[in-house]
Amino acid sequence: MHKLLKTISLISILILLFTACSSKEVSNLSQESEPVPQSATTYTGEDVKTIGISMPAAQLERWHIDADLLKTLFEDAGYNVLLSYGDNLIDAQINDINQMIDQGAQLLIISPVDSDSLGPCIENANKKNIPIVAYDRLIYHNPNLLAYVSYDNYMVGQLQAQYIVDALDLDNIDSDRCFNLEIFSGDSADNNAIYFYDGAMSILSSYINDGKLKVLSNQTSFYSTSISSWDTELACERMEIMLSSYYGTNQQLNAVLAANDSIALGVCEAIDSSYNKDNQIIITGQDCDSCNIQNIKDEKQSMSIYKNLNNEAYATFCIVQNYLNGVSTGDDLTKGYDLDFTIRRDSDTYVSDNVYITSYLLSPMVVTNANIDKVL
Ligand code: BGC
Repeated sequence: MHKLLKTISLISILILLFTACSSKEVSNLSQESEPVPQSATTYTGEDVKTIGISMPAAQLERWHIDADLLKTLFEDAGYNVLLSYGDNLIDAQINDINQMIDQGAQLLIISPVDSDSLGPCIENANKKNIPIVAYDRLIYHNPNLLAYVSYDNYMVGQLQAQYIVDALDLDNIDSDRCFNLEIFSGDSADNNAIYFYDGAMSILSSYINDGKLKVLSNQTSFYSTSISSWDTELACERMEIMLSSYYGTNQQLNAVLAANDSIALGVCEAIDSSYNKDNQIIITGQDCDSCNIQNIKDEKQSMSIYKNLNNEAYATFCIVQNYLNGVSTGDDLTKGYDLDFTIRRDSDTYVSDNVYITSYLLSPMVVTNANIDKVL
């Protein structure tokens, strides 16, 4: 009897151990395959008086406009604002953010140089219960992110690609006709760049596969087309190499998918100096930077994507205000504000460490010579 009891308890222990192991495995597995929603938090801290704003680069026009808009909104509402630019350098941005924390920043608005690498200062902020808003670019590995505010980045790429399809009338051309396209994607450290690329390729891939669009350089993957730091000079150099390698006497270049305006600027410079045919080349862009607006008017660049930065900054301001007034992150953090633009609260696009990050996404629009004066 004693032996039987011993055997039964041994079997029970084995069953228990087995169930414990397998349920752990199942829960890990299900976590990997199905991200979970971000958990809701409500602000419970001290009064916030100082806000730290960290922008990724001073070299690009838009980040100055964003910074000025955010600074004015928060200062007018009575906050002290600390501001820094990362100069496209990860370490510089981490130092700046840690410094702002030391100087008393109680809430941070960050647009990261590299979405993946802010670890050390995120940890520092989390230890001090400092809430963080990811501005325009997502920050990974921070389960406590208050919110992510941006434009619909996938849609940006779709609009650029659809513009090329329509401008070349690809849906109506004879089956034996084709056009030459080259692709210039954004900085691979910037999380937005892959969304722009994926959105564009969701439309362009079928035309490339059908042979209506040819990429003579054969460079079509995200990494082979990526321009580090969104740099104008690098884009110009790559375009020059392509022109001399693939677009000699017999081949025309018909379209360039340029992910943003700083890249489009470099592409236009190379075409100005090193392309010797007079066909019109469709060139896309994004941001409506001042030089590019001029290039659109001069018909050197075909279009840009307009992202109203007043709206992006104001949405961020409303979200922060609501949060500091006790609205839970599980709730709509834009509520109570009469916004005259569309903003979509999205909980199933951006995933970080298997958690869906709550995002607030605005809608981009296409700007061409036909509507530029009305829009800007
Ligand atoms: C922004 C773009 C900008 C690019 C380079 C992206 O994260 O969404 O608007 O052109 O960074 O600064």
